[in-house]
Order: sequence, then structure tokens, then C-alpha cells
Amino acid sequence: MGRDGTQSRGAYALAFLVGCAAAVSAVTGRAQQPPTTVELAPRAEKARALAHLYSEKLRAGVVQALKETGPVGAIGACNTLAPELNSSVTDESTFEISRTAFRVRNQENLPDAWELVALELMQKALTGGADPKTLETYDVVTTNEGQRLFRYMRPIMMREPCLVCHGPNVAQEVKAEIAKYYTDDKAVGFNVGDLRGAFSLVQQLD
Ligand code: HEC
Repeated sequence: MGRDGTQSRGAYALAFLVGCAAAVSAVTGRAQQPPTTVELAPRAEKARALAHLYSEKLRAGVVQALKETGPVGAIGACNTLAPELNSSVTDESTFEISRTAFRVRNQENLPDAWELVALELMQKALTGGADPKTLETYDVVTTNEGQRLFRYMRPIMMREPCLVCHGPNVAQEVKAEIAKYYTDDKAVGFNVGDLRGAFSLVQQLD
């Protein structure tokens, strides 16, 4: 199973077209015409709460690792932290949570078609001056196998503590440590306030 609960990332070819149109209206959090009778708002509320919890835990974990071991030591923690937190945050629910971005450190986090559209919408809204806290996208999409999924995304913004590992001037020893885990790191060069990526949540409906 993929991290979003489907057999393959290619399963979204069809869903992409549906999701694309709906995502435009949903980027502000309001889907005008839900494509099914599935109630979107309560699910979005749950997804939003989980994303907040995950975000807080991740940030606390990163800050603690930085304090305890410094940036070089904290790379290992970041490598394992996100997947560990994933199950701890979603244990009680039927959501799967992950992170994605245009430019990634871990290739596993590359966006699928639906996530790419959502990221583009977020970037566009931010460029237009939108408040990142207000941005979210959600929808019900159907995979090629006929599986219906509730999908939700909200932005992850660059903040000051993130610079040491994702900023424009990552120290040589930090870069070297990153390279031990990730052979094709594209997740550097971000400034505070940039869209770093997004939380992505998926819930199987059938
Ligand atoms: C100590 C270094 C370090 C710090 C500090 C750090 N990160 Fe990361 N970040 C990483 C590593 C390592 C990964 C790859 C994790 C994985 O394997 O999924 C990563 C992955 C990510 C991803 C997933 C997309 C990708 O590139 O693979 C996002 C989004 C992200 N970081 C955002 C942030 C934000 C926001 C902050 C500040 C709150 C932050 N990071 C601070 C090291 C760091």
C-alpha cells in the first residue's frame, strides 16, 4: 500500500480531473458542490485538528532534537520523527498523514497529481497575499479502482528554526550529514515565510 492508502500513485489519473475543479472552490475551505453525499465539513474539521496536532508535535520534536544534539545530530531524528509521529497522531482515527512539497528531501514525499494541484493553488494564493492559516484544500476523489478517498491538505510554512536544515545557507557539515540519508536533496534554499510544503491527509471512505 502507498502512504496514501492506494496501491499506486498512478491511481489518480481520473480523480485528478475531478479533484482539480473542486479544489479551486475548496482552497478557501468551502467546497461548493460536494461530488458525493459524503459530508465534507466534519471530516475537514477532524483533518484540520490532526494536522495541527502533527505540526505541533513535529515542531516540538525538531526544536528538542536541535537543542539536545545540534543540527547534525538532529538529522537522524528528523529522518525517523515524521513516520513515528504519523502513527501516534492518527492511531485513534482512520486518517493517514504525510508531508509533501514541490521540492523534497525524501523522494517518498513527492506529490501525486492531486497534491501537486493543491500545492499550486496554495502557492498562487500565497503569492496573492493570502494568510497561510486560512488555506486548506479538501475533496472526495475516486481512484481508478473505484475506491473513494477523502483528501485534505494544508500548507507548511518556513519558520526560523527550519533554516538550519532547509535555508539558503545550510552549513557544510549539516549538508554532509543530510547526504548520508538522502542522495537527492532538493529541500534547501527556502526563506522564512516561504511555502515549504503541505500536510496531506487521506481517509478511505469505502
Ligand atoms: C535538523 C534538520 C531539520 C530541521 C531543523 C527541519 N527539518 Fe524538515 N526535514 C529534515 C529531514 C531530514 C527531512 C526528511 C524527512 C523524511 O525522511 O521524511 C525533512 C523533511 C521535511 C518536509 C517533508 C518534505 C521533504 O522535503 O521531504 C517538510 C515539509 C519539512 N521538512 C518542513 C520543515 C519545517 C517547516 C521545519 C521547521 C519547523 C523543518 N522542516 C525543520 C530536516 C530538518
